[in-house]
Amino acid sequence: MKLDSGHTVTAVEGEEKAKLKKHFVGYPDGLVRVSPDRWLFPGRYMDLGNDYYNFEFRKDDVLIMTYPKCGTTWTQEIVWTMRNNPDLDNPDAPWAVMDRVPFIEFDLFFPKHPPEGMEIVATNAFQRYCPEGDLRGAFNLQLSRAIPEPRTLKTHLPFSLFLPDLLEKSKVIYVARNPKDMLISYLHHHRLLRNQEFIGTLEEFADHFISDDLVYGPYWLHLKEAWQKRDHPNLHFVFYEDLKADIKGELKKLDAFLGTGLSEDQFANVEKYTSFSEMKARDSLFFNSEVSKNDALYNQEIRTKDGGFFRQGQSGGWKTKLTPEVTKKMDEWIRQKCDFGIKFK
Ligand code: A3P
Repeated sequence: MKLDSGHTVTAVEGEEKAKLKKHFVGYPDGLVRVSPDRWLFPGRYMDLGNDYYNFEFRKDDVLIMTYPKCGTTWTQEIVWTMRNNPDLDNPDAPWAVMDRVPFIEFDLFFPKHPPEGMEIVATNAFQRYCPEGDLRGAFNLQLSRAIPEPRTLKTHLPFSLFLPDLLEKSKVIYVARNPKDMLISYLHHHRLLRNQEFIGTLEEFADHFISDDLVYGPYWLHLKEAWQKRDHPNLHFVFYEDLKADIKGELKKLDAFLGTGLSEDQFANVEKYTSFSEMKARDSLFFNSEVSKNDALYNQEIRTKDGGFFRQGQSGGWKTKLTPEVTKKMDEWIRQKCDFGIKFK
């Protein structure tokens, strides 16, 4: 199928399907490739890709764009708090992050036909902003369209899968992370979340990454598209490692980019409220914190053993997790694929 972006979407079949299915037992609607770049997405992209491409961005929108596990949720909370809750008195703050900063293409991760007993329930935001909405349709897309301005939105899609005038219309914050830490975090994510469940080893996961066989890959191309636009005044490019090393300085830069004009007290509020320990304690990523205790959604064994979504929140953790062989492969991947000027911290 041809997309409005000019790409072609095809279902992953045959040998490639068998290779991926061996380790990825989630993805109930299968996987698709978007050519010529070989982007890999869950099967529902076939139906929804054009809706994402044609998503109507507005002047006051701020879009947080990342490859998975690069600090998206942290940035969502930072930006929403800076824009809507700098005095920590907004009554909607206890809502899940995904309710306040909708994930445009989150519907890709919900089965097209949810099995019996897996009813999708309307969240606070959906009830308020989509009272006539269709929960059996793409409800995250409906919510992304419906929330009031100024909207803060999240995507893991790359620039080329949105209309080319995105940066003329809206502000974008792109967060990049060292691929080795991203790899460890993405592996954990794939073991934790049942709908993406991965049952192979770290070595096998790294091989899939290197072959551009992880959903939302290729990471190098995702990065390259954003890196090449980094001087655009409506794009703020930031590294996870810089947020970790100097959050005060990075909040100041974000304040200048967003035009939020925060006071020193408000900066202190944002820093504390979005710290790893406070976000982990609130555990409000998904629709409610009960989600993470539900074994049909989260693998409880992994959650107990290795941690939940808010796992470690550190830079450089790869040093104690990656074997010398995998480190060598990742270094080679960085050298070969990330040859467009980016330097990881
Ligand atoms: P780790 O698995 O390395 O701990 P994303 O939101 O893009 O999925 O990224 C998730 C990663 O960001 C996880 O990394 C998670 O722990 C980390 N993270 C989430 N909130 C954070 C915070 N407030 N400060 C630092 N890291 C955070």
